[in-house]
This record gives sequence, C-alpha cells and structure tokens, in this order.
Amino acid sequence: MEDFLNDVLTGLRDEPRWLPCKYLYDEKGSELFEAICETDDYYVTRADLALHELCVDEISQLSGKQTHLIEFGSGAGTKTERLLSSLDSPRAYSPIEISPTALEGSVKALRERFPDLTIQPIEADYTQDIDASKIKLDPPANNRLVYFPGSTIGNFTHSEARHFLKRMGKIAGDNGAILIGVDLIKPVDILLRAYDDAQGITAQFNKNILLRLQTELDAQLDLDAFKHEARFNASLSRVEMQLVAIKETRIHLGDDCFKFMPGESIHTESSHKYSIEGFQALALAAGLEPVHHWIDPEGLFSMHYLKPTAA
Ligand code: AVJ
Repeated sequence: MEDFLNDVLTGLRDEPRWLPCKYLYDEKGSELFEAICETDDYYVTRADLALHELCVDEISQLSGKQTHLIEFGSGAGTKTERLLSSLDSPRAYSPIEISPTALEGSVKALRERFPDLTIQPIEADYTQDIDASKIKLDPPANNRLVYFPGSTIGNFTHSEARHFLKRMGKIAGDNGAILIGVDLIKPVDILLRAYDDAQGITAQFNKNILLRLQTELDAQLDLDAFKHEARFNASLSRVEMQLVAIKETRIHLGDDCFKFMPGESIHTESSHKYSIEGFQALALAAGLEPVHHWIDPEGLFSMHYLKPTAA
C-alpha cells in the first residue's frame, strides 16, 4: 500500500505523467485482461496460440529429453499445457508467480492434467532476482528451458528488456535455453484496434487503475473526466495506453493536487513491438544467441528460441 502510494506520487509528479503498469493487474484488472484476450480485436493471444500449435514439436526437439521448464508468470493456460504435453519426458515444471492465488490456480490445473509431472511452484516476483536454490532440483536438471510467452517482454523498455533477458540467460545456464514470445511490428490501425477494442474492455482495464486510486488510496478524482486512448509511439515502436483528460480536472491525493487541462494525460502501459532482426539484436546484446524463431501464419506474432552464448 505504502509502495503503491509512493509509486503513484512519483509518477503523477513527473512530466509527462505516468503510472507503473503493474498496478493495472489487480484481481479485477487481471480478469479484464483475460477478457481482452477473448476479444476479436486483441489478435495477440489468438496468434500466440496458433503459433504454439505450429512450433511445439520443433521446440521439443531443440530442447531434448528431461527438460526443466521454468515459466515466468503462472501458466494455467492452453499455451503452457500445449508446450508441456509436447516436451519429451519433462523433468519438472516451475512457474514463477508473485500472486499466490494465480500460482495455486495454475498448479492445481496442471497437476490434474499432468499427474506424473513434478511441479515446483515458486512464489516470487520474476522481475527481481530469484533465489537460485528455489529453482534447483535434486538431483539437478542439466537442461533448463526458461519460458516467457505472451509478449509480456513488450512492457519493458529496450534497456529493461536487455537486462531482463540477461537474467533469463543466467537462470537458463550454459546448457539451457530461452523461449520467448514477442509481438511483431504491424500496421498501426491493427495495433490501435488491439489496444482499444470495440467492446471497450481495454478502456475499462485502463480506467481500473484510476478506480484503484479512489478506493485504495482515497484519491479524490472524477473518473468520467478521463478517457482511454491507445497511441502508437513510432520513434519508440510501441503502443502506449494513456488516460486523457477530456475536461479540466484535478486529482487530489494526500497533500498533493494534480491539475489536468483537457488533452493532458497519464501514460499507464507500453507494449513494445519488434521486428525479428530488432529482437535478435537485443538478444545478442544480452548475451543470447538466436537459434530459431517462428512466426504465426498471419505474420502477427513471433517466438524466439535463444541460447546463452559461451562467455
Ligand atoms: C500482458 C503485456 C502482453 O501489452 O499486449 C493488453 C497487456 N494491455 N491490452 C500487452 C495489454 C492492454 C499485454 N501484455
């Protein structure tokens, strides 16, 4: 709570104003995000799933027998199930997830689906350093696959993403590999529709953060004074979610008062889009060698299989 307040104050005092995107994903926000994934306009999930169908067998061959699958985030979903069911006698599965309820749900579903698989959940924030002993198996696995689907890497700036990839490489180790989903650059109209769906669910998802300021931080604000907007920032190759004031309005928070003129906005989330070459260059800069990549049949989404380069 303390952190939430401090982070919000830091972001609103900054120019331009922003809020950390992690605060979009409380229980309600996570439900709304799931609903976004069901919309026709949000192509990402559809393309990611189609791509899994296409590439899991090749991934299984690349990865070999007895892989220890380590997922960043909890994967109760079809994607993880699809990958696990195609791996050649996987050694174990370790989801790393900060939300205990999400972790429990995922573990329960996968235990039912794969009763013979060793599942070793890790309750931790995967954006921070993770205690190596929590990942280690006894006897140790000699073959780790660090899995990060869904293009969540897109939330990071390039420099954050590079650091993050480096950490993934360390966790994978010399004999391991990384499997990561990365959304591709595409025509702006398709991108903007995906982040401003016709049903208005993304708008609700974005505005949920204002609701949290009201209910959890006692902020005084007019929800109807802000509208959701998806913008493409071409120079940074990313979609930005913004909350834009449609009239003059104020947010009172503690002793601070933040005034908005019409058109002034709060940046709440970025989704970076990459070309294949662009992402490979980033991976190389993080000490990861591109081994293989796949693109879905519609040309919307990619998966990269990377290996730490010998230091
Ligand atoms: C969960 C980060 C992959 O950026 O596409 C979807 C989040 N935000 N619509 C994305 C999101 C608005 C999503 N990720």
